Amino acid sequence: MLRLDGAAALAGWRRGPAAAGRVGFVPTMGALHAGHGALVERAAAECDAVLVSVFVNPLQFDEASDFERYPRVADQDCRLLEGWGASAAYLPAHRDVYPEGAPRQLEPGPGGRLYEGLHRPGHFAGMLTVVHRLFEQVRPQRAYFGQKDAQQLFLVRELARGLSWPLEVVACDTVREADGLALSSRNRHLSADDRPQAATLHRALLQAQRDFASGQRDPAALEAAMRRVYAEAGVEVEYAAVVDDATFLPPSARSGRWRAVTAARVGGTRLIDNLALGAC
Ligand code: PAF
Repeated sequence: MLRLDGAAALAGWRRGPAAAGRVGFVPTMGALHAGHGALVERAAAECDAVLVSVFVNPLQFDEASDFERYPRVADQDCRLLEGWGASAAYLPAHRDVYPEGAPRQLEPGPGGRLYEGLHRPGHFAGMLTVVHRLFEQVRPQRAYFGQKDAQQLFLVRELARGLSWPLEVVACDTVREADGLALSSRNRHLSADDRPQAATLHRALLQAQRDFASGQRDPAALEAAMRRVYAEAGVEVEYAAVVDDATFLPPSARSGRWRAVTAARVGGTRLIDNLALGAC
């Protein structure tokens, strides 16, 4: 696997024969786990070449301490990527992505204002800004994103529709531990005491899924049921909501597919998760 250490190395690779066919792109912030592995392996099965970027984007951290403690383990990441079948890893420096220093940021539309958008001010602007920069540099035919960050995925799909070339955004299922905890780079901050509590997010989402399957369509009732699961576990919930999957806004009478979304703090660690509820 090639290691591309800056924008010039990436541009050379992109012009060369290795990237002549269909290029699949997996943007990451490193600290890779099996969830990323699933994205890379799927990209490798569907594309002629797979490029993975590893860049801890300062613009999308709403808390400076979170940015500082974010794990940076590039050598370990590259070993994993090799095993998953990536063709190349792009490891840009700040100036490779933001040559102007402090870029003007892209703002999300209405679908990015609630839930994560509300609880992490600036996060989506920073995320969209870096994803747009990376898309422009890499110019992939396909880009792979995890369903775990469902609101991010929604906004990236909107972004992709405005690009000057056809880019297919591929959503990959969330990879979970046996107790339902969604894999995340943040899970490494969970203590042994926190760890069983962390499965509460999934349990709350399953409760919403069961209630929806039995005909419940009142968003407030679905949300209250999720909050009860948190209260019983003694876990601090940030939000537990149902959304229209097509808008990432609260469902209306016209909503087709619904999704339950949630964020909670377990110990000092903020976790998010979501589950499709089904169609009305
Ligand atoms: O999901 C992530 O890891 C990040 O938000 C992304 C898409 C790599 C942009 O920095």
